[in-house]
Amino acid sequence: MGRKILLADIAVPDIEEYHVYRANGGYRSVEKALLGMTPAEVSGEVTKSGLRGRGGAGFPTGLKWSFLDKKSEKPRYLVCNADESEPGTFKDRYLMHHLPHLLIEGLIVSCYALGVHTCYIYIRGEFKYLVGILENAIREARSHGFLGEKILGTPFNLQIFVHPGAGAYICGEETALLESIEGKRGNPRIKPPFPAFKGLYGCPTVVNNVETLASVGPIVMMGGETYATIGKGKSTGTKLISACGNINNPGVYEIELGLPVEDFIFGKEYCNGIVGHKSLKAVIPGGSSVPILPAGLMLKTAEGNTRLMTYESLSDGDFISGTMLGSGGFIVYGEDACIVRNTWNLTRFYRHESCGQCSPCREGTAWMEKILYRIEHGEGKPSDIDLLAKIARNIEGNTICPLGDAAAWPVASAIRHFREEFEDHVLHPAAVLEKERSVKERG
Ligand SMILES: Cc1cc2nc3c(=O)[nH]c(=O)nc-3n(C[C@H](O)[C@H](O)[C@H](O)COP(=O)(O)O)c2cc1C
Ligand code: SF4
Repeated sequence: MGRKILLADIAVPDIEEYHVYRANGGYRSVEKALLGMTPAEVSGEVTKSGLRGRGGAGFPTGLKWSFLDKKSEKPRYLVCNADESEPGTFKDRYLMHHLPHLLIEGLIVSCYALGVHTCYIYIRGEFKYLVGILENAIREARSHGFLGEKILGTPFNLQIFVHPGAGAYICGEETALLESIEGKRGNPRIKPPFPAFKGLYGCPTVVNNVETLASVGPIVMMGGETYATIGKGKSTGTKLISACGNINNPGVYEIELGLPVEDFIFGKEYCNGIVGHKSLKAVIPGGSSVPILPAGLMLKTAEGNTRLMTYESLSDGDFISGTMLGSGGFIVYGEDACIVRNTWNLTRFYRHESCGQCSPCREGTAWMEKILYRIEHGEGKPSDIDLLAKIARNIEGNTICPLGDAAAWPVASAIRHFREEFEDHVLHPAAVLEKERSVKERG
């Protein structure tokens, strides 16, 4: 079994309850930080750890924290991004469900490091069942002196509030999220100014992902330098991967970064191979927003090296032969999967979730969906494939927020790597429909 940090105690019965969590070493990092370290020392450990944001972009957490406006006399905020609406990504909800106190512990230590006294957990509206779990954990932490006024007898005060969203994917984008907490429609803001200077209520704000913040307690306990020895290169530590699709063992796994992709897909302790002993066709490894890669390029890089589960190895320097680790939403396709149908499905999602502020995203996602619909339903024209690729190119980089890129990359990469499949749909629609029917019948 690989190394476990976040999920080390996941099998302990009732670990979601305060007394069990505490008996297993819970909240020790709060004691260590508040009673024995300065806020700068805590931030220093996070910087040394090399921890990178687990929400998708992989931005170094210590560096992000260092940007927080130190001169401002306004209050500062920490916002925990628990929106998790990306298709294929379901690791944060797992963590909050089973280890709510690990997150609360990470939030307390992070707020101490950042000089924050009010923290929000912005949680996806559909996760109603988690709101009660988190609020209960907050109540328990407060009743044991880890939240509220003069925590552990120190001058440090902290309140944590759970703020449910209303079910919009775009509210996971950090500035749309801030708008939503302020009670407005969740439209992304034009940056700069960045949240570190002008975030929630116009005050300096850090937004971090659930998994990122849950990692802070263990980092403080083991020390940043030790954490940095785990993983590979600049991809330090462990990462939660939510695996789904045509695999034998879908679920949430904690992997040490650097694990070969092949071991993750075929290893018995992880995905355990493709359903029905079929061959691997393709993978989207970082949530639906990142480029799809065909099996050959997923297992080996363009140079023929073993592809690893790291930010660097997966990206390979470009999107021709690479993709992204993203949020770790690992979607696996077996040989029978239809790439065109899948691309259409994802594009429907992005079209629906576009906030509509930018024309390339608002119009482009709708055009792409329309074209993909006709290709998938046997009504496509030969010129449609290049038209699709052109629309995707025109969206990329031309929008206020990265949702535009997120909608363009799956389409562009599907055409790049599976063009023949698109051509088959256009040129031989009856044969494709027949094949899909027989796959369905075989189950
Ligand atoms: C459309 C869109 C949706 C996003 N959804 C999420 C999300 O659900 N959770 C998340 O942590 N980050 C999400 N992000 C990334 C956030 O904007 C932000 O980068 C992240 O929360 C920062 O946390 P990190 O540095 O810990 O990764 C999304 C970004 C975009 C553009
Ligand atoms: S890229 Fe799309 S989702 Fe993002 S601001 Fe523009 S229209 Fe809205």
